[in-house]
Amino acid sequence: MTDTPDFSFDLLATDGAARRGRVVTGRGPIDTPAFMPVGTAGTVKGMLPEQVAATGAQILLGNAYHLMLRPGAERVAEFGGLHRFMNWDGPILTDSGGYQVLSLTDLRKLDENGVTFRSHIDGSYWEMTPESSVEIQRLLDADITMVFDECPPYPCEEDEAKRSLDLTLRWAERSKAAFENRPGYGLFGIVQGGVHDHLREESARRLVEMGFHGYAVGGLAVGEPAAERNHTLEVTTPVLPTDRPRYLMGVGKPVDLVDAVERGIDMFDCVLPTRSGRRGLAFTWGGDLKLTNARFRDDHEPLDPNSSCPASRDYSKGYLHHLFRSGELLGWVLLTWHNLHFYQELMAAMRAAVEEGRFADFAAAFRERQAKPKQ
Ligand code: GUN
Repeated sequence: MTDTPDFSFDLLATDGAARRGRVVTGRGPIDTPAFMPVGTAGTVKGMLPEQVAATGAQILLGNAYHLMLRPGAERVAEFGGLHRFMNWDGPILTDSGGYQVLSLTDLRKLDENGVTFRSHIDGSYWEMTPESSVEIQRLLDADITMVFDECPPYPCEEDEAKRSLDLTLRWAERSKAAFENRPGYGLFGIVQGGVHDHLREESARRLVEMGFHGYAVGGLAVGEPAAERNHTLEVTTPVLPTDRPRYLMGVGKPVDLVDAVERGIDMFDCVLPTRSGRRGLAFTWGGDLKLTNARFRDDHEPLDPNSSCPASRDYSKGYLHHLFRSGELLGWVLLTWHNLHFYQELMAAMRAAVEEGRFADFAAAFRERQAKPKQ
């Protein structure tokens, strides 16, 4: 017997298609809808793990591709796994690498077995297969492992999307066979199919037949208009089982998260809050603020005087403007911290809205405030 709880998902409330739930992993629960800060290379850039936890984040995302190349999955395993290596003891989901290989490397060859490619770091040759990706994620000790998939570009002709989808489904089967079931750990399938409704439906149906602990929707946020992404979610989520978590990969802006929760998505990851924070962009309840803009030079107000986050509450916009204009590192840290906290506040507000049966009103008010022209 073991005391580790099995990987599970409890659906606690629904409001329309929006869901409030809880994923249970061996390293703790994840309240959904949930946002996973991106810690690609074993760090959420510029943030201490305890700061990330204090924003409300319960799970981080790591990348098999980056960690395999540097410092190496075996090395991370020798340090006791990614959690101990980076000093984060909550759950970690790792992306499988397929998407990163195809988007970051130039010399690459894709065939039935997997992908051979050259490292974006030093040009060395590597191979990644469904089996090696799952093995890397095991060495990292990921709580949630993603299947190895191919993410087709946008736009993508239907016959090419179908070829890619069939390959991804064969890779999903191989990923599942390679995954060692252990209490507290989960494996997620990834729905592909471009923006072709019947391919999305087929992809979701065949993955559900294989059976996974959760289901991701991939191949979105690759340049398609928001309306097409939303439509794709509308045809996909009804095919997925209600008793498993659903994860929309790589999305998105605050309004995109609201749109997706409204269509039945439970989990998200995106570089936007961290990357935008390093570029001087703050996400707020009143919309985005580009703090490098001269209009903030004499602004004495903080980003949010009522926030529990020091970065949002204790520093004026004029000071943040100065830090960015001066190229000071603290500007990156404070805005990353603020943005991550804002994203977690947004998720908490969506959870409360679903619980209280007022999600549609919440979403309408949120969209209106986000769209408001800046003074
Ligand atoms: N991140 C964003 N989109 C995708 C996708 O389609 N597949 C994978 N593996 N990761 C992603």
